[in-house]
Amino acid sequence: MSMQTNLSLLSQRTDNLAGIVDVPGDKSMSHRSLILGSLAIGTTKVTGLLEGADVLATADAMRALGVDITRQDDGTWVIVGQGLHGFVAPETALDLGNSGTGVRLLMGVVAGQAITATFTGDASLSVRPMARITDPLQQMGTRVASRDGGLLPVTITGQSEPMAISYESPVASAQIKSAILLAGLTARGDTEIIEPHASRDHTESMLRHFGATVDQTVRDDGRHHVRLHGDAQLIAADIAVPRDPSSAAFPMVAALLTTGSDITLPSIGMNPLRTGLITTLIEMGGDISIHNPRDEGGEPVADLRVRQSDLHGINIPAERAASMIDEFPILSVAATQAQGTTIMNGVAELRVKETDRIKVMADGLIAAGAIVSYDDDTMTVTGCSIAGGITVNSQHDHRIAMSFLTLGLISNAPVSVDGCETINTSFPDFARIMQNAGANITETSS
Ligand code: S3P
Repeated sequence: MSMQTNLSLLSQRTDNLAGIVDVPGDKSMSHRSLILGSLAIGTTKVTGLLEGADVLATADAMRALGVDITRQDDGTWVIVGQGLHGFVAPETALDLGNSGTGVRLLMGVVAGQAITATFTGDASLSVRPMARITDPLQQMGTRVASRDGGLLPVTITGQSEPMAISYESPVASAQIKSAILLAGLTARGDTEIIEPHASRDHTESMLRHFGATVDQTVRDDGRHHVRLHGDAQLIAADIAVPRDPSSAAFPMVAALLTTGSDITLPSIGMNPLRTGLITTLIEMGGDISIHNPRDEGGEPVADLRVRQSDLHGINIPAERAASMIDEFPILSVAATQAQGTTIMNGVAELRVKETDRIKVMADGLIAAGAIVSYDDDTMTVTGCSIAGGITVNSQHDHRIAMSFLTLGLISNAPVSVDGCETINTSFPDFARIMQNAGANITETSS
């Protein structure tokens, strides 16, 4: 796949965003469709797949594990499943690029197969923690070799019948939970994960869609218990991927903040474990109306209408953090335009995303004239006018790039973002789609 390098974009003050804004397919569900389709018996057809670099890296990795995956001219992806024990050892290392979800879920897959595979990634992924995945996999009997500190490259030697475990995860992370569930598919006995709060449950839903038995309960203390019945069999089942609420977040905030704006975002995934940003923005006074709620392929979906609004600051509870974990960078941009102070609690996990998102957002926002403070687990933003006139680097983080481009739309002087090629990981046509809605975002180099 060829990808433009060193793309810089310039974003300038914009009014009157309008029209229908079609964002791409959900990244989490796209990875999982490819992976579960590969583990199933039979042929799975996937429509609406996100064709971003992260997901394409997962498709390539599945092919290297022996799975036949093709894309039809109409955009449907066809996966010929190998069953739970049909994978082959890859001849070379599996390079998952920038994708934490891809690398972590696939470590779980390999842990449940009698094969060895080495995982690598880009500069950002190579400094992200992997021990949070390999520790529980080792408890299941997986052999693991990694760089000091549990970093990539990581080599995993799995087994055809891993040990079923009960694992209490220290953090609410769908990536940790999913890796263990995927390894547990070939275990004899039930695999159980307990997380402090419920993280996104697409793996659980999609496993059920493919015929596995997975129970979920949220206990009175807020902890989420998930139990997968072992020795499962997955049967191919077609999937319609909804549009990504985490990508919708950028035009949504842009429309709320820019004068006279009124946009519609059709067919957005509304899984309640993904809608924390919508809840938050509505509490802040955002005019977001939810139309035509429906079920598509086992997931709730709706059309959203978003109009410019006067926002006010709120205190966001830590329990909500997991349901909007990828949306804090763009929420911090929204908070610069809210009257008063917005406090984001329970955000420590942002420090181990594609970048340290608390620090990178705070540094850039402060340079642009915003009022921001933070500690290990909290970020606070007080609304004020934004001078802008800065150049920031994405630091290989798609959501950092899109957040600062959104900031430029409401800044007094333009905001320039270097390293925008990384946007291709989750939202390939971001600049064009925003331009079509009226955003003043232009390319400054190639
Ligand atoms: C994802 C889970 C989240 C999220 C990431 C996608 C997934 O990570 O930040 O972008 O698809 O499972 P954690 O589960 O580690 O919080």
